[in-house]
Amino acid sequence: MEHSDPTPDRPHIPVLIGSILAAVGPVSGHWLDGTFGAGGYARALLDAGAQTVTGVDRDPLALDMAAAWAPEYGDRLRLVAGNFSELDQHAGEPLDGIVLDLGVSSMQLDQAARGFSFAKDGPLDMRMAQSGDSAADLVATASEATLADILYHYGEERASRRIARAIVAARETAPITKTLQLAAIISANLPRPKPGQSHPATRSFQAIRIAVNTEFNELIEGLMAAERALKPGGILAVVTFHSLEDRIVKRFFQNRSGNDAQTNRYAPQRPEDTARFTLVTKGAVAPDADEIAANPRARSSKLRVGRRTTAPAGPVDPAALGVPMLPETQSYKSRSAKKGHR
Ligand SMILES: C[S@@+](CC[C@H](N)C(=O)[O-])C[C@H]1O[C@@H](n2cnc3c(N)ncnc32)[C@H](O)[C@@H]1O
Repeated sequence: MEHSDPTPDRPHIPVLIGSILAAVGPVSGHWLDGTFGAGGYARALLDAGAQTVTGVDRDPLALDMAAAWAPEYGDRLRLVAGNFSELDQHAGEPLDGIVLDLGVSSMQLDQAARGFSFAKDGPLDMRMAQSGDSAADLVATASEATLADILYHYGEERASRRIARAIVAARETAPITKTLQLAAIISANLPRPKPGQSHPATRSFQAIRIAVNTEFNELIEGLMAAERALKPGGILAVVTFHSLEDRIVKRFFQNRSGNDAQTNRYAPQRPEDTARFTLVTKGAVAPDADEIAANPRARSSKLRVGRRTTAPAGPVDPAALGVPMLPETQSYKSRSAKKGHR
């Protein structure tokens, strides 16, 4: 989730990489970094002993930026433009480890022209891959009900209906094409934040970014692809930045390690219940005070690590992972009535 930051426009500082290396132990073999960004994880893995790293990013700019230093690593570093949902296809060979550091990079957030920030005026874009429908397209074309659902389910914004109504009223007067224009519409419909509270547009911008980049589909597909791509004993390390993402990763590891709630403890174990992962981290690892002081953007991050077993990979039911679903796929009225979707 985006926070106002006293030191913007600096390079991306890798989050929780020390904790990843500590959890993994000695690094060797073939790794894939599915969220290459500024390459902080990829470099750390190569420097720690990975034989090769495949760096994947859907943002062509991230890969262009690596041109300045990637040759240092010769053919140990291979860069691929693509989505981590297909990481098993990008890997080319069974992997010893996979890292995913979800969300946007500081470069993406800090560049007003990318349209991710409610604090900087720019085009309302938010496309990591710089292709497809932008946030402005979504805000211009989605129905009021769909906008409200996105804000509520992907941003946990309780004033979702009020904000969606305001967006639709505003776009009838003039198209909403700029980040600050949208941030002002949202802010006008929420109470003024108290000192220390996040910007009122934080949740809505998160929700719209998730929708524009189909982030939850990417995450589910990416976790399943990781299960297929890892060798027995291979490591999957995932860093998340908000509670909805963390819940999916937590439930994935619970489900795949056989630690999720048994509905009937007398039921015979089915072969497909065999654990695909063992848990390397018990619970989530958070950054310590020193890391947060050095890098305020790390403050909401959480790391979970699992180790692949020999059990064959298989499909995962997204519903079992707590993936927020828009009403086309899930009853919405009952949830909204319970939680106060206004
Ligand atoms: C938080 S940054 C990663 C930073 C990186 N760990 C580092 O140390 O420099 C996330 C990056 O992942 C990319 N990304 C996000 N979702 C993706 C997806 N589904 N497939 C491929 N890349 C993705 C973004 O474009 C962004 O560059």
